[in-house]
Amino acid sequence: MSKEFKRTLITSALPYANGPVHIGHLAGVYVPADIYARYKRLKGEEVLFIGGSDEHGVPITIKAKAEGVTPQDIVDRYHNIIKDSFKELGITFDVYGRTTSETHRKTASDFFRKLYDKGEFIEKTSQQLYDAEANQFLADRYVTGTCPHCGNEHAYGDQCEACGTSLNATDLINPRSAITGNTPVLKETSHWYLPLDKWEPRLRQWILEDHKEWRSNVYGQCKSWLDMGLQPRAVSRDLDWGIPVPVEGAEGKVLYVWFDAPIGYISNTIDCVGDDWEKWWKDKDTRMIHFIGKDNIVFHCIVFPAMLMADGSYNLPDNVPANEFLNLEDNKISTSRNYAVWLHEYLQELPGRQDELRYVLTANAPETKDNNFTWGDYQQRVNSELVAILGNFINRAVVLTHKYFEGNVPAAGELLDVDKELIAEVEKLKNEMTEQLDAFRFRDALRTAMDMARAGNKYLQETEPWKVSKTDMARTATILNIALQTCANLAIAFEPFLPFMSEKLMKMLNVENLTWDKLGSFTLLPAGSKISEPVLLFEKVEDEVVVFQQEKLRKTVEQNKLAAWTPEPVKENVEYDDFAKVDIRVGKVLECSNVPKSKKLLEFKIDDGMEGRTILSGIAAYYKPEDLVGKEVCFIANFPPRKMMGRESMGMILSAVNADGSLTVIGPQGEVKPGATVG
Ligand code: MF3
Ligand code: ZN
Repeated sequence: MSKEFKRTLITSALPYANGPVHIGHLAGVYVPADIYARYKRLKGEEVLFIGGSDEHGVPITIKAKAEGVTPQDIVDRYHNIIKDSFKELGITFDVYGRTTSETHRKTASDFFRKLYDKGEFIEKTSQQLYDAEANQFLADRYVTGTCPHCGNEHAYGDQCEACGTSLNATDLINPRSAITGNTPVLKETSHWYLPLDKWEPRLRQWILEDHKEWRSNVYGQCKSWLDMGLQPRAVSRDLDWGIPVPVEGAEGKVLYVWFDAPIGYISNTIDCVGDDWEKWWKDKDTRMIHFIGKDNIVFHCIVFPAMLMADGSYNLPDNVPANEFLNLEDNKISTSRNYAVWLHEYLQELPGRQDELRYVLTANAPETKDNNFTWGDYQQRVNSELVAILGNFINRAVVLTHKYFEGNVPAAGELLDVDKELIAEVEKLKNEMTEQLDAFRFRDALRTAMDMARAGNKYLQETEPWKVSKTDMARTATILNIALQTCANLAIAFEPFLPFMSEKLMKMLNVENLTWDKLGSFTLLPAGSKISEPVLLFEKVEDEVVVFQQEKLRKTVEQNKLAAWTPEPVKENVEYDDFAKVDIRVGKVLECSNVPKSKKLLEFKIDDGMEGRTILSGIAAYYKPEDLVGKEVCFIANFPPRKMMGRESMGMILSAVNADGSLTVIGPQGEVKPGATVG
């Protein structure tokens, strides 16, 4: 565990190219991975940060089918959207490849072939789920059903996302085809299986004994699967989208997406560094870290390591800091329901505010439990932390330097206790941060960085250079020197988290080449060097922004409700004689007005062809009273009188209930005399 490594290979889960990425992906995987990569680079260590699209598998073919386009169209579209948006957010992949590349096809085929030739697979013919109508075998996301382990009714054919367990499609209780909704039948087919049970003792030793330092959520999940006992797992599928199984007579069979995708980390390494790739995967001095979301734990801690063990020449990951899930305004984020904050839309709607998003997602990262993103919290954190603490401190130091020293870094004189305390505090915070970052505790590390800005503010509050400057310019010089050195320290401390701010700040302070080992130094800015004019580092988030974003989510929820609407089931039969007891009539609206103090009720004066009558109806939310005057409506004429809001209603106006719950008044389609019966 405490072995010294020469270099770090950082992988981040390859997102399915079946939709854009959202804040859940960012908080779970890409922001933490990027923080870690940037931190390692700042330390001058050798790092390779691998990203890329996962372009095979059922999520892609389902999306293509839904849109009536080819899987290739889908992956071409989303690969580019995802790649560009990551870049704009400042995610510093060394390579962003794709699993439809030629390099990957070859790498994955060769990997399979080596295991095949070594006899590491079992070939087995068995009965598998089949959709006779769709003419297709059902595996993975093509089939859903009840998880035999936790009872979740929406488990997929290869995994239950509720409990994380990996499944075989035939394990599902009450399986249903995701294509037709049919109950599948069984049909014989043959596949290659990786005997995970063969590797179980080694996996146990490697995880449960040698990696007790892993996050408890990751360690605990692994332990529970290992304790259940591992089964052979099919690594091929009867599908037409994927990498063909490189074995003679395997027509119509492709590699299981979870067999090919992690090999994508290797292919992308090859695309990035060429012949040098093996040093990143096989050299014992290289440390591999997988950044993933919790639904990927089984594949990165059990299945892929078993593949690597079966090959025999690869390193295993040293750590797998998987995150839990992020919710959005208390609801589950969902790609299929379009309920998310999409990165590419965020970048368009809130241009230039990448650091804010990185900040909020890290400050609230789901590291140990599921967490919730809200726009209210976003606003609060930006305004009261980034603007009021970090931005404010830097701005004061820079502005005062311009005011008293024409933008030249003043030389420090003799240091007082208050100065030495700040210096010691920065040193202490550096050590804390280093420990936290090394332990993948990014939200704690960010809080520690913020504590450094807090210490700076407190220092200015205590030393009051704006007052001291009236009597003692030498002391003012010392104070501002110390404050500016603190700013330079902040540029280092925040670089992994807020790279755009850090770059602006370094330009403002006119320094470059700040590295992690310089953090804690108070000689980063030489006396006499010039700093630039202050620039705005953070802007307040206005209420309009919050309201706009909340409204957008509300509309999505609304649309989903409408889309999911189905008519109510028909009630049980009634006899005509029973129906005929209800006296329905046509009436003409003579007057219509709001009932004072009631938001719901409208009061109608109806011409019913007889003496006329008053009816109260709860439709005020949907109509302006004047719009109903002169209209013909249908009403029930033989209800007993009923008091509402101190008024008497003689009947009930008939309305249709719309999908969203709103009401539309029902009336005749042609001219009908008031008082006419309906039946
Ligand atoms: N595409 C998968 C997902 O979104 C992740 C694949 S990670 C890899 O859940 F290791 F397979 F590449
Ligand atoms: Zn389950």
